[in-house]
Amino acid sequence: MREKIVAGNWKMNTTIGEGKKLIEDILSGMDRVPAGVTLITATPFTHLCPAAHLIGDRRNPALAAQNCANRESGAFTGEVSASMLASVSCRYVILGHSERREYYGETNEILLEKIKLALAHSLRPIFCVGEVLQERETNMHFQVVSSQLREVLCQLDPEDFKKVIVAYEPVWAIGTGKTATSEQAQEMHAFIRAFLAGTFGELAQSTPILYGGSCKPSNAAELFSRPDVDGGLIGGASLKADDFLAIAGSFA
Ligand code: 13P
Repeated sequence: MREKIVAGNWKMNTTIGEGKKLIEDILSGMDRVPAGVTLITATPFTHLCPAAHLIGDRRNPALAAQNCANRESGAFTGEVSASMLASVSCRYVILGHSERREYYGETNEILLEKIKLALAHSLRPIFCVGEVLQERETNMHFQVVSSQLREVLCQLDPEDFKKVIVAYEPVWAIGTGKTATSEQAQEMHAFIRAFLAGTFGELAQSTPILYGGSCKPSNAAELFSRPDVDGGLIGGASLKADDFLAIAGSFA
């Protein structure tokens, strides 16, 4: 049995007051989360400490950051390191989101540095891959995703790879309301698992692969019913506790 995970990526949304309220609402609805499903909230950096305080000793939900630096420490103005994240009870970090790749120039080379630092500080990376619309329309999507995997995850030691979570986020589905069909998601997730098995063998059977891109309460159950879809990475719908909890409750 693979882990089931629903992770919320808040992106650059919520003031601290709004963020605390959202965490409180999630905490009070945790009885809607089926046993065995891990809920993760990736808040903005500024919210991690207060969120950790509200969550206290609970293992579920867990906290994630949305990024970390590709350097250990030092004169890197404005950056937040993996060790700083670990020191505020953060257990996961989203890396390689398409918005980071597109707007902040993050390359696979930089992402490999970040992943290694995250792992060195016991943070589990949620590594995002996915193609843009033009790449899908020209049938390049498998090639694009395989190079993202090859240049980053396939460079890790097997012991490190075991801790990685993959998120398939077709860029054309992010924030557009246009979700991949569950057939498209399953096809790509199975491809990702087979590709990773080429390097890591049986270990890839245990890798959670999440789907992201306009996932909402109305389509989550259908997506999560597919054998290689192990959960979701949720943007917009994670900003409403009710929707986020409904998505988490969508596992059969
Ligand atoms: P939406 O759910 O808003 O499409 O965003 C998906 C996403 O980018 C999660 O990382």
